[in-house]
Amino acid sequence: MRLILLGPPGAGKGTQCKRLVEKYGALHLSSGDILRAERAAETELGKKAQGYMDSGGLVPDDLIVAMMVGAMKKAGKGGFILDGFPRTVVQARELDKALDKAGEKIDALLNLQIDDAVVASRMTGRRSCPKCGGVYHVENLKPKVENVCDRDQMALVQRKDDQPEVVANRLKTYHEQTAHVVGYYNGKKPVIEIDAGMEIDDVTKAIFAKLDAVKIK
Ligand code: AP5
Repeated sequence: MRLILLGPPGAGKGTQCKRLVEKYGALHLSSGDILRAERAAETELGKKAQGYMDSGGLVPDDLIVAMMVGAMKKAGKGGFILDGFPRTVVQARELDKALDKAGEKIDALLNLQIDDAVVASRMTGRRSCPKCGGVYHVENLKPKVENVCDRDQMALVQRKDDQPEVVANRLKTYHEQTAHVVGYYNGKKPVIEIDAGMEIDDVTKAIFAKLDAVKIK
């Protein structure tokens, strides 16, 4: 399986990727998670990415492409699910070139759609585990013990870029740049539209059903 998962901030890409990984065993490659790990490790890339991420803009294409193409090499036969990459048409073209070179291809793009108005409440209620990256929500997806990760008992944290003014910028960036990536793939690859405004389990069911329908395993 080689999938791309796109959608605005808070559409539920990370949440659904975890479930896709459980079912299909592909490697989850989230550009946002990898960047946050680079920042935590205070690498050169992490330092360069910091300002862009904190303001809700995009990290430059050349840095992202090198990072993601490197990460994709770690995927085995199970393939990968790209979460939040490619986010510009330039990144999509570079991804195509890298895949061509490796003799691989993308099976489909899942496009999670959600209204901007819903995004705000998802963002302000999101809590993440700083160790495993597990994602929770104070109302929609509570951990068993309040504010503690189910998996490794770490205290959950709120992402700095989930502040309302940064979320507004992330949405603007999405509409101005990332939404065009879907157009780039239209007609080239199956583009599977998903209503991500439903409850989490219903979104998962819709994704599995649509992947089954196009025979992606
Ligand atoms: P990134 O981490 O990728 O952020 P994002 O795309 O804005 O997406 P999010 O992680 O905020 O949301 P999500 O869709 O994964 O939602 P989640 O499942 O967590 O990127 C961060 C930054 O890194 C970017 O702004 C940019 O600066 C940089 N970057 C990353 N990739 C880049 C690239 N390719 N190029 C350049 N720069 C790049 O869910 C959100 C919350 O809602 C959770 O609390 C969850 O529990 C809840 N929830 C999920 N689904 C539902 C549902 N159906 N109903 C109710 N609640 C739900």
